[in-house]
Amino acid sequence: MSLTAWPVQAPYPMMRHRRLRQAIWIRDLVAQSHLSPQNLIWPVFVVEGNRQEQPVVSLPGINRMSIDVLLKRAEEAHQLGINLIALFPVIDLALKTPDGREALRPDNLVCRAIQALKQNLPGLGVMADAALDPFTSHGHDGVLHEDGRILNDETVQILQQQALLQAQAGADVISPSDSMDGRIGAIRQILEEHGLTDKIILSYAVKYASGFFGPFRDAVGSSVSLGKAGKHTYQLDFRNSDEALREVAADLSEGADIVMVKPGMPYLDIVHRVKSAFGVPTFAYQVSGEYAMMKTAGLAGYLDYDMVMMESLMSFRRAGADAILTYAAVEIAKRLQKG
Ligand code: PBG
Repeated sequence: MSLTAWPVQAPYPMMRHRRLRQAIWIRDLVAQSHLSPQNLIWPVFVVEGNRQEQPVVSLPGINRMSIDVLLKRAEEAHQLGINLIALFPVIDLALKTPDGREALRPDNLVCRAIQALKQNLPGLGVMADAALDPFTSHGHDGVLHEDGRILNDETVQILQQQALLQAQAGADVISPSDSMDGRIGAIRQILEEHGLTDKIILSYAVKYASGFFGPFRDAVGSSVSLGKAGKHTYQLDFRNSDEALREVAADLSEGADIVMVKPGMPYLDIVHRVKSAFGVPTFAYQVSGEYAMMKTAGLAGYLDYDMVMMESLMSFRRAGADAILTYAAVEIAKRLQKG
């Protein structure tokens, strides 16, 4: 309903907007948006080794973890009410190749992490990315042709195999973040063919070519490989929003269960449009650059980190996001538990 169609409100002083803001009990009663740990998904960086907790310089407070540490942290997160974690492997440079073939080794780091998590914490959802960037020597999400193009259909074939491996390792949710065309249908098909009918596909349907991914690329070590090359030939142009709806429509028709918008805060208009147009589960990713801005400004004393993080997460919920991937998931879940 548009504002003009509303019944006329009583004028001041019969109507005083501040009546409903006078104390916390009434503000809580009329609050329209809510945030709980169940709305949060925690992205984590996994490294080889034992007892590894390596700080990511551009993401203060975030560590790359070896699998043994991850199991402990994931259990804590689950106890706090977080139901899904998203895995991003940090692959040894020596294993990176132009075709990212390490992604298809059944015993690679991400598959081992999935297995360990599902064995130890079967009730915690595990999500694995279908994309090649952690595995390619050039840092792109797909296969790079010598003429500089990223090859769509060749990449989709590899992604299909990667997704199948991750699903067979036990991943509950497959999240293609690569932005190739046709990959949702291809992945859905191969999962069905293998009887993996309950695997959820969370499509990064709307992923913009963004500068806000910078710290993530440091964390997984793809920024060195990528250099100045951008991902503009496959990720969306941030001047557009109709394109986002076409991407979502395509992915839903190919069998996606959930769609995601990424980055988050500069794209809340897109979250709102997607949720209003399709009414499907719509997630948003508060990406590394967004977390880094708030965290570093907080550490410098320029703003109150807890306050702005909570405010930003609530704005995702207000825009229509059902769940949010955020590096602050554990911190915020702890805060929400305290009340
Ligand atoms: C790539 C991928 C990226 C992120 C998640 N998966 C970065 C990119 O496209 O280069 C970014 C997440 C973040 O910035 O937090 N498949």
